[in-house]
Amino acid sequence: MFAATYGLNVGPASPARRASPPARGGVGGRGFNRIEGVDMANVVVVGAQWGDEGKGKIVDWLSERADTIARFQGGHNAGHTLVIDGKVYKLSLLPSGIVRGGKLSVIGNGVVLDPWHLKKEIEQLRGQGVEISPKTLMIAENAPLILPIHGELDRAREEASAQGTKIGTTGRGIGPAYEDKVGRRAIRVADLADAATLETRVDRALAHHDALRRGLGMDPVDRDGLLAQLKEIAPSVLEYAAPVWKVLDAKRRAGKRILFEGAQGALLDIDFGTYPFVTSSNVIAGQAATGTGIGPGAIDFVLGIVKAYTTRVGEGPFPAELDDADGQRLGERGHEFGTVTGRKRRCGWFDAVLVRQTCATSGVNGIALTKLDVLDGFETLKICVGYDLDGERLDHLPFAADAQARCAPIYEEMPGWSQSTEGARSWAELPAEAIKYVRRVEELIQCPVALLSTSPEREDTILVTDPFED
Ligand code: IMP
Repeated sequence: MFAATYGLNVGPASPARRASPPARGGVGGRGFNRIEGVDMANVVVVGAQWGDEGKGKIVDWLSERADTIARFQGGHNAGHTLVIDGKVYKLSLLPSGIVRGGKLSVIGNGVVLDPWHLKKEIEQLRGQGVEISPKTLMIAENAPLILPIHGELDRAREEASAQGTKIGTTGRGIGPAYEDKVGRRAIRVADLADAATLETRVDRALAHHDALRRGLGMDPVDRDGLLAQLKEIAPSVLEYAAPVWKVLDAKRRAGKRILFEGAQGALLDIDFGTYPFVTSSNVIAGQAATGTGIGPGAIDFVLGIVKAYTTRVGEGPFPAELDDADGQRLGERGHEFGTVTGRKRRCGWFDAVLVRQTCATSGVNGIALTKLDVLDGFETLKICVGYDLDGERLDHLPFAADAQARCAPIYEEMPGWSQSTEGARSWAELPAEAIKYVRRVEELIQCPVALLSTSPEREDTILVTDPFED
């Protein structure tokens, strides 16, 4: 078993064992598309940096081979593009499995659901020929809703914030909706089914929101208008409402493969991210359990998606950020623009300190290393291996915001490679320097590479460990 061979998460792998890449378990021998084995396995996929790690391609490959695909956190702040048989699908709320026939897609209670966005996304996909019905889509009855007032509040706060205190949110109401959930005044999917309950819930929420809005100089909410909007949209959501925890329990007992599809990245986690410059949900793998209602023991493999360098959208600390020609080059070669907001992403060298940290907090069993080809042609590559904080060397990012801001990256340099790695499908096709870079990344983050992606094309992947069959 891979974990036993490589001492997963217990320390750096022995360099001696890694001297000869082609001899490594399964390298080159296992095709990326191989479908074999019936082992039951539930896989969680999480972004291990600040989001935009290239989850789309990996999640699509895994979802094709899963029975059920479940979202467990976030909302329509996520965004990814799937290209299947030349057709482009844009998803931000629905699980990736929705575009593949014969799968069950699930939106768990950990997600904040904008019903109007849901309707729009469903209509858009139906327009492209995707079949969506209550047999293929289920939404947790206990999922909280994002209301139009949440988006308004999100945007008003951002506008009112002074430079340096803005979060740089997607403006989609994610934070305010989670605030209402925790404040026990959210309107949940199940509340849409009964007019009297809905009125009580709306009144409870507005008692809070109207006071808040007065303070921000905003008009009070049009209560009757909001109620009318909710009653109108209710059937479009209730059609898919289900006790998701129960459905997943039955799937698990029947030995079906469940893929838990994370959005954003672990450094945006509300607890373990670069607070307050984070999203408002738990992003790390443990949330797959609480955000859907399965037990933690049902998770067999956690796959962390890791980009071969670092990017971030929005504000907040970024120790290895590059404000020079190298950063510009990473952005251009990597097409680093946000899918949801179109914003230019900030770029920097690979930060092994942060990824080691996120692999630990998510219990990552293996990583999918993406966009290695973007590093082609750099004469020298740098990897952040520690931070200098006022003369002291740290091997983790401290939580205090002022300390984070003062952390200076300590870099290790490695020779780059001039050959193209784009489209490589085996280790033998990679230059020696690229292999050394990957091996060094594994050592530093204390976690092995399960998949190596060398282009957006599905076939351009080197498979080391299949998460569903490990
Ligand atoms: P919110 O999730 O809209 O509240 O935004 C909070 C922070 O998370 C901002 O820095 C956003 O740019 C970031 N963020 C939210 N969703 C994503 C995503 O899917 N990819 C990358 N960053 C995201």
